[in-house]
Amino acid sequence: MTGSLQRLGDGAQAEHEQAGVRLARRDERILDTEVHLEAAAPEPAAAPRREDRRLLQLPHAEDVAPERPAFLLAARRDGQLHVVHREELERGRRGLGHSRHASEAPGRRLSGVDDDLLALRDACDRSLTGHGEWRPETLLATIPRDTAPDRYGSGGVVAELEAEVAGLLGLPAAVYLPSGVMAQQVALRVHADHRGRHTVVCHPDSHLLAHEEQALERLHGTVLRPAGQRARLLLRADLDAVAERPAALLVELPQRDLGGQLPPWDDVVEQAAWARQRDAAAHLDGARLWEAAAGYGRSPAEVAAPFDTVYVSFYKGIGALAGCCLAGPDDVVAEVREWRRRLGGTLFGLWPGAASALTCLRRRLPLMPAYLERAHEVADAVRDLPGVTVVPDPPQTPMLHLLLRTTPERFAAAARRLAEDGLWTWAQASITTDPGAVRVELPVGDATLALGLGEIRAAIAALAG
Ligand SMILES: Cc1ncc(COP(=O)(O)O)c(C=O)c1O
Repeated sequence: MTGSLQRLGDGAQAEHEQAGVRLARRDERILDTEVHLEAAAPEPAAAPRREDRRLLQLPHAEDVAPERPAFLLAARRDGQLHVVHREELERGRRGLGHSRHASEAPGRRLSGVDDDLLALRDACDRSLTGHGEWRPETLLATIPRDTAPDRYGSGGVVAELEAEVAGLLGLPAAVYLPSGVMAQQVALRVHADHRGRHTVVCHPDSHLLAHEEQALERLHGTVLRPAGQRARLLLRADLDAVAERPAALLVELPQRDLGGQLPPWDDVVEQAAWARQRDAAAHLDGARLWEAAAGYGRSPAEVAAPFDTVYVSFYKGIGALAGCCLAGPDDVVAEVREWRRRLGGTLFGLWPGAASALTCLRRRLPLMPAYLERAHEVADAVRDLPGVTVVPDPPQTPMLHLLLRTTPERFAAAARRLAEDGLWTWAQASITTDPGAVRVELPVGDATLALGLGEIRAAIAALAG
């Protein structure tokens, strides 16, 4: 990567300058950044691939590049957003008679929640969370033009990604799958088949219990057994309550629903040892393993070491297109490949997701310590605000949760006002058991680095108000 502009802490400065990242001053606001990506394979021509990462997209006719979408949003002085056909912009005809309100535009029915809010998001020039890269053209730019395609998951960039991820995790093999839901179900099924047992022990808030429609039970005849308590991390001592010999222990690092908390490292090692002593597999839900590695100050391979199998995701902290890898011993990974086929996951071409993953992994894995440092800075900037609680405080990984003393309705109205001013925060907040408080998740990424801390503080104050 060359020429990108990031705001990093002083400590991380030398390291990132070495990586070709120009540093912004703490008070410098980044509006227009360009990233020139190094090729996964040698560049065929002299022209470098260029990813346009301008967050501001209020187009003027002369700005509209040919590859841009047919319809674009234009904000008017009255604060209303209008969808305008690109040809109109190119002709410089942006009068009311030639535009439509955002909600009338084709293809706007994205969530069914609030289409106007999504239209507002598209027009925002700043984002508080993650990398702020939800636009298809930005994500497609993470696929190098000279990508070597796979055929049904074999060869090409898919094989290259699998080898790179196995190496990063220090495990013998890895297989690419379209989703973490598929990857983990299959890995746990294979562990259960090998052992002739059917129980998987996990935290009560495991993704498999909360968000996968009982897939393990209904598709694979395997039962999830929650251990420990929902409101805190699973610890080795909680496993003493489990008398039966399970097929596997499933550990999530970090625990997403607890704001990205991490158990003490020694406890993680002891949990895995508990599983091994019972001839159960130790499986890591590493959807955010890259973030956990930064939090522990350990390499991804060190975090993976206590586990038999590890799932890692590429579209969360890494910011690529959807997709993941499942890594582990050769025989387990070979069986997971067979199950990927059986379940319809071995698409004719898996290369778009894999190529995007490789680009973004190489770009963002080295930035995880900087994202973590910014998570600390965000916590420092907002913890004294009335009605704001940071969870965990201080953050342990490059993400945090905020509990805000407000109602979902007041929160949504404030988020909309911020979006109208060009700052995207959240579409909505989660309710909590306290009717007077809502919760939001703040994954820290490029967009969070690019915002000034003053603006972050003001936004959170407005949302909590
Ligand atoms: C902790 C955790 N595990 C697993 C998954 C599933 O990943 P995917 O969306 O790739 O199926 C998610 C997705 O959010 C997650 O947060």
